[in-house]
Amino acid sequence: MQEYTQNYLQSGGKKSFSEYYLISGKDAIFDTSLRNNMIFSLHNLASDNSFNEFNLIICRNVLIYFNKTLQTRVHKLFYDSLNSFGILVLGKQESIRFSPYENNYKYIDKVEKIYRRCN
Ligand SMILES: C[S@@+](CC[C@H](N)C(=O)[O-])C[C@H]1O[C@@H](n2cnc3c(N)ncnc32)[C@H](O)[C@@H]1O
Repeated sequence: MQEYTQNYLQSGGKKSFSEYYLISGKDAIFDTSLRNNMIFSLHNLASDNSFNEFNLIICRNVLIYFNKTLQTRVHKLFYDSLNSFGILVLGKQESIRFSPYENNYKYIDKVEKIYRRCN
């Protein structure tokens, strides 16, 4: 939690980070003010379709296990599920390069594989 607190402060967080969670034993539990706005849902990248427009999609270390056909399916899913200027985060070994959607994104961070949808 100390590392997350540092990240929060470095990204401009103004309140006390501890206001967002409670400690219970070894667990940190989201405060209800956050939890009430969350939806947890299973989504199968291989068979489900887009179900929302998101500002941010983080999908790390999954694409590397998929073949090219399935990777292309998932890239379409990401593209269809992100709103304009939405942000996509992949794993460090993953990329949108050589996908049909390559030209629809701009790099925010090349090393961390953070992209912004640009059209
Ligand atoms: C190597 S783990 C990566 C976990 C985490 N994202 C990370 O970076 O530490 C791969 C994850 O992909 C998930 N996964 C595998 N096939 C999937 C599919 N078809 N749809 C959605 N998730 C899948 C697995 O359940 C597993 O949690």
